[in-house]
Amino acid sequence: MARVYVDAQASRALQKGAMIIFKKGVIRTEGEIKPGDIVEVYSRGGKFLGKGFANPNSNIMVRLLTKEKDVEINKELFKERIRKANEYRKKVLRYGNVYRMVYGEADYLPGLIVDRFNDIAALQISSAGMERFKLDVAEAIMEVEPEIETVFEKNTGRSRRREGLPEIERVLLGKEKYRTIIEEGRAKFIVDMRGQKTGFFLDQRENRIALEKYIKGGEKVLDVFTYTGGFAIHAAVAGAEKVIAIDKSPKAIEMAKENAKLNGVEDKMEFIVGSAFPEMEKLQKKGEKFDIVILDPPAFVQHEKDLKRGLRAYFNVNYQGLKLVKDGGILVTCSCSQHVDLQAFKDMIIAAAAKAGKFLKMLEPYRTQAPDHPILMASKDTEYLKCLFLYVEDMK
Ligand SMILES: C[S@@+](CC[C@H](N)C(=O)[O-])C[C@H]1O[C@@H](n2cnc3c(N)ncnc32)[C@H](O)[C@@H]1O
Repeated sequence: MARVYVDAQASRALQKGAMIIFKKGVIRTEGEIKPGDIVEVYSRGGKFLGKGFANPNSNIMVRLLTKEKDVEINKELFKERIRKANEYRKKVLRYGNVYRMVYGEADYLPGLIVDRFNDIAALQISSAGMERFKLDVAEAIMEVEPEIETVFEKNTGRSRRREGLPEIERVLLGKEKYRTIIEEGRAKFIVDMRGQKTGFFLDQRENRIALEKYIKGGEKVLDVFTYTGGFAIHAAVAGAEKVIAIDKSPKAIEMAKENAKLNGVEDKMEFIVGSAFPEMEKLQKKGEKFDIVILDPPAFVQHEKDLKRGLRAYFNVNYQGLKLVKDGGILVTCSCSQHVDLQAFKDMIIAAAAKAGKFLKMLEPYRTQAPDHPILMASKDTEYLKCLFLYVEDMK
């Protein structure tokens, strides 16, 4: 088996519980390594640290799977990890039949994501090694949760391309099925696996539900970057009088309209297919003001090198959003960029508020991703979502 030797910093991170080794932490390799091969990892001094999937073409050089030399990397190992991941969701979180079943590194299955929507599991693989085992993984999912009748392979997106893997979107195992209806708080949503990501952004579940308690009845709400209506539908079912929802994806807005009908709130909702910046400007020019504005943009910072530019995009969106909030209204603002830490996000919103002439008060403790996307304490890479609920007052 080929070997990878890592520097002191990477060794320390692995010993604390991290599972990912970046290329910059590798000192040298021994033997030929092809994408997806299993390799052994050693410290500079030759101490065995673990075994995992390697990809010499990727920025993530090794995804560790075990720290034991004699543990076999096979279907049984994956099945046991999936069983444990599922047990945490079922026993501790009690999320019913809709939850993220596997969240990569945080469930000791780096490169694998599985979202469960009733009897369908949507799987996303972002490592060449896991790709080799995907049928085993699909079978293991069905064996662990026999109510799951379909494993849908949603293998698309940037991380696949970075690993040199083809994009595939199809039923991998079981019944041909792509759609189901889920319940979340007081809202219902149609989830179609052929939509963005695995079909639905489960990470915002708790934050969408939290919005419901700020609707007392009669509010005017703006949901920018709504996708299939997420926050907007919650606001409408909780009693808002008028809800405007914007997204640039026509497919997402079509589904948002279906979701509005499903919840019987279509009469008070207005959907706009368009880009956030110009659409918010149009609303400002019309003199519109809202009791609540929600901003949940896509990750503006994909790589560390884009941090400055991405923070400017967050600043611009939040500055515009703040100007649309009434005096005494609420801004819900989010960032799903892993490279933007909480302090940078806070600094950005403070600057945007100063420019917009607003005072901000925190309504909720800092919110993050739902706990079925667990944050592994030893790995900052597993923490990405920030969501602030802010009370907004005019500075006079
Ligand atoms: C993180 S998702 C929002 C998820 C949503 N809040 C939910 O709860 O389901 C980001 C959304 O922003 C949309 N989007 C990306 N760029 C946009 C832009 N410039 N203007 C408007 N929408 C955009 C995407 O189509 C996607 O639906």
